[in-house]
Formats: sequence, C-alpha cells, structure tokens
Amino acid sequence: MIYFDNNATTQVDPSVLEAMLPFLREQYGNPSSVYSFGKHAANAVRKAREQVADLLKCEASEIIFTSCGTESNNTAIQSALLLDPDRKHLVTSKVEHSAIIKHGESLARRGYEVTWLDVNSDGLIDLDALQEAIRDDTAIVSLMWANNETGVLFPIEEIAAICRSKHVLFHTDAVQVPGKLKIDAKALGVDFLSLSAHKLHGPKGVGLLYVKRGIKYQPYIIGGGQEQGRRGGTENVAGIVGFGRAAELAMAHLKDENTRVRALRDRLENRILNAVSGVVRNGARDERLPNTSNLSFEGVEAEGILLLLDELGICASSGSACTSGSLDPSHVLIAMGCSVARARGSIRFSLGIYNTESEVDFLLKNLPSIVSRLRANSRPQNLLTAKS
Ligand SMILES: Cc1ncc(COP(=O)(O)O)c(C=O)c1O
Repeated sequence: MIYFDNNATTQVDPSVLEAMLPFLREQYGNPSSVYSFGKHAANAVRKAREQVADLLKCEASEIIFTSCGTESNNTAIQSALLLDPDRKHLVTSKVEHSAIIKHGESLARRGYEVTWLDVNSDGLIDLDALQEAIRDDTAIVSLMWANNETGVLFPIEEIAAICRSKHVLFHTDAVQVPGKLKIDAKALGVDFLSLSAHKLHGPKGVGLLYVKRGIKYQPYIIGGGQEQGRRGGTENVAGIVGFGRAAELAMAHLKDENTRVRALRDRLENRILNAVSGVVRNGARDERLPNTSNLSFEGVEAEGILLLLDELGICASSGSACTSGSLDPSHVLIAMGCSVARARGSIRFSLGIYNTESEVDFLLKNLPSIVSRLRANSRPQNLLTAKS
C-alpha cells in the first residue's frame, strides 16, 4: 500500500505503540487512585503532559487532554460562550474543519450569531475583514492554522495580535500543524490551541487543548475532577502516553518534513502539473504546509481517480464529503471560488515521513493514464472557466 493521505490520519509510530502497550496490559491503574499502582499511571500522564508541553513550548499546566481534536475545538468555543453569556457572537471562516463549521451552524440555530469570513482564491482570509468582523459582543474568534484540504496557512500570529488588540479570545485549530511547522504557543499569542494525536503518528481518540495561563476557562465535559477539574472523565492513559511520545517524534520530524517530504510533494505536484493537461493547484503555493498538494483534474470526477488509484494500492482523498449518499463538493474549494466541477475533480495528496521517492514515482507513472482513461469516458467541460 502507498499511503498519501496523512492529513486524514497517520500510521502509529512503532515506538508510540511500544510506549502505550504496558498501559493497555499490566499497568491498567486509574490515575486518580491513591495507591501506587494508580500513581504509576498518574506519573505516566504527567510525563506525557510535559512532552506535549515541550512540543507547544508552553507550561504543562496549560495542557488539557481531551478525546480528540473535535472535542478540543468544541471546548474552546463553549468555554468562551459559557463564561460570558452576554457575548453571543463568534467569528470564524468558511474553510474550517467540520468540527468548527457544524458547531457554528448548531450555535446559529440556537440564537448565536456567527460571522463566516470569506477567503480569496488562494484560500487566505482578509485581515481587514477580520478586524471589521470583531464586535463588542464577540465572544471568540476561531480560525484554523493549516487547512486540512489544501494545506493553506492562516497568519496566526497576526490574527492573535488583532484579537488581543480588540480584547477578544482567539482559538486556533492547529490539528494539521505538528511535525510540519514549529509551534511556540506563547510567541503565537493564542489563547486556545487544539491538537489531535492521530495526525502526528499517535493513536486515535486523544487530543489536547492548550489554554493560556490566566485565561478564564469553563469545562465542557463535566464529571470527575480529572485534568485539575477542567475535563471530567477517566484519562485515556495509554492514548495520552502515546500522544506524549508522538509529540517528541513530531519535533524530531520537523526537519525531514520541511526538506525531504517537501521535495517529494513538490516533485509529485510539479510532475503532475507538467505531465497531465488540465490540472490546477488549489490553494496558495507558498503559504502552505510542506506535505499537502490539492489538485483539480479537468473533466473528471475525483471519485473515479481515487477508485482506480485504490486498485493500485494508492490511498489519497478528495476534498468532497459523502453526506447521506450524495457527494457534496468541498466547502473549502467552493469558498475559494472554484466551480463545482473543479471542486468535484479535486484530489488531495498528503505525504508524510514514511513516504519514499519510489512511491511518488509509482504514482507519477500511473496517474496520467488513469486520467486519460476517465476523460475518454466522460464529456469534456472547461474546468477553469465553468461556474456552476
Ligand atoms: C483541521 C482539523 N481539525 C480538526 C480535526 C478533527 O480531529 P479529530 O479527528 O481528532 O476529532 C481534523 C481531523 O481531520 C482536522 O483536520
């Protein structure tokens, strides 16, 4: 199998699994128990908290472990809304992950007001529009750092500065960032930041929310006193331990991601753009993660390409989401002004540290004929100009 879908999830690193296994087998103590068997689990959670704090260049006490990136995103927004009930407005963008979009839509149905910032054809927001969108009753601004579909990066430091100057809380969904960009939570100036372990060669079902020291915070999951009363529920000890090890690896992988993986991504992208006619890149070329390439193929449906790639053992994905049987074009590409045809013809290749040059070459050898075959079977349409 050739795995070019690392923005969807990543392979668990063997050393992550090794670190986790004792906590799934013999070390099954509850970190809240007073006896030493439980203390051992609590110590493992403490160590992992320090490891992820190192990744974020923050204090261990600023980390709250959660069940996933989605929970972290929901928690930041809910905390802001719960603490200041008079502020019923939030600002986000049209290209966020569904963990923000669907939550925002749900809040809008419950009487909150949401400003959905537009993006330009590169997938970037206008900072003046952000300034204008923030109001006296804005509870929180939530904008992602790296887009999961296109890899496009928002200028988080500048956004944080704008929010600070307007005295509004700022949350960033940084789920796609670790291992690809350096993170320094303090220097960024964010109030909240979300991560998810399974995007950095850790296990699924564990995430974290960074909450800047001094920021007022209200728990979302209410129960026991875990996470210093900030998130109820017995800790996923093995998952958290795996997250800690994965955080160490993410720091070690930064160089490889930004040199070798970036070069592989560029080779893949440039060769496809040169070898196959009617292909366009979606999203800014430069303000982008080093591992992601989102390309639209004129006159073909992405699903056709993905099925034929799958027959060759190649995993990639389309920006489309399959909702109750109907294939919706990517909301990200549509927000960028792409036609429905262009959005439906888009494929995301997201590489990772386990990918090799020979895997990229295998794709390059096979993709042109796959696209030709599909085009021969479908009616041509002008991808670049068609608006529908
Ligand atoms: C940008 C972004 N935010 C949030 C999430 C959700 O993370 P999780 O799968 O841990 O809930 C994802 C996962 O695809 C993502 O890519």
